[in-house]
Amino acid sequence: KLPKSVKIKEVGPRDGLQNEKQTIPTEDKITWIDSLSKTGLSYIEVSSFVHPKWIPQLADASEVLGKIQREQGVTYAALVPNLRGLERALVANVDEVSIFMSASEAHNKNNINKSIEETYPILSEVVKEAKAAGKTVRGYLSTVIGCPYEGPVAASQVRKVSDRLFSMGIDELSLGDTIGVGVPNQVEKLLEELLPHFDANKLAMHFHDTRGTALANIVKSLEMGITIFDSSLGGLGGCPYAKGASGNVATEDLLYMLHGMGIETGIDIDTVMESAKLIEKVRGKKLNSRQMDILNAE
Ligand code: HMG
Ligand code: MG
Repeated sequence: KLPKSVKIKEVGPRDGLQNEKQTIPTEDKITWIDSLSKTGLSYIEVSSFVHPKWIPQLADASEVLGKIQREQGVTYAALVPNLRGLERALVANVDEVSIFMSASEAHNKNNINKSIEETYPILSEVVKEAKAAGKTVRGYLSTVIGCPYEGPVAASQVRKVSDRLFSMGIDELSLGDTIGVGVPNQVEKLLEELLPHFDANKLAMHFHDTRGTALANIVKSLEMGITIFDSSLGGLGGCPYAKGASGNVATEDLLYMLHGMGIETGIDIDTVMESAKLIEKVRGKKLNSRQMDILNAE
């Protein structure tokens, strides 16, 4: 019933760093991303071309993309909110463009300053232009289970917005439990609503681990046929426009579980731990993962 292999998409350099208060020097980001490129990961979301005033930590996106050493077989992606962002991302020669919006009105407004209806034409243009430039496009949908402002989000609403995003021509959609409120039976309900309409191979799950339910939710998703998961090294991260949202599920904890279950990822956990130690040192603060706890206790 479980898949033989899954694809892990590392979002640490973007989702992980965007919520960091202290500025991480550009050179350190580059060194860190270069170390991630050598772990066997095939996908790294390296930064974000949003307004630098909104996310100052990632204002150096162009420089980061320009200076990392790109490994063959690794896709280097970045967030893009609008055409201005796309212009910058194309100059920096991003491999894949990630557009994003929310299933709940209030989070969408707080995060990107637009209503859901106002967002569609903006993103639709971005997809069109990105495709014309030969790029693949990933969509993100936030607050698919709960919203920090509105509470529970209906699965039917998630389906409605997902439908609009797929109609624009996105290649894949990542479903975000932005504030980490979901539990497995909610994930089941959500996927039961979506899977009759969308190809399971085009859906990814993006769990923040605010309440410690991310791995349980991933097991449920695996059982339902999902094979793409987003995670962040050291459990770094959180959405600055979702109060109390903590980091993504930690890549190393996810790897431990998947490999133990006999599911292949192509990623070497020892090299991943070296990369985690590197960013922990730069950050000067302990990372939030069980694997790092064990390592630090040795
Ligand atoms: P806005 O202020 O409404 O933008 O922001 P605007 O279109 O009205 O433009 C205002 C000015 O900003 C203009 O300059 C634009 O050129 C400039 P002016 O003409 O006044 O001189 N501008 C830009 N400059 C550089 N790059 C750009 C850009 N866009 C406009 N891309 C906007 C709207 C979307 C830009 C803003 O709200 C924004 O940047 N929001 C980003 C929020 C964000 O990054 N959130 C975190 C990422 S999402 C997330 O974490 C969730 C996820 O992980 C999944 C999950 O967990 O659920 C993906
Ligand atoms: Mg996120």
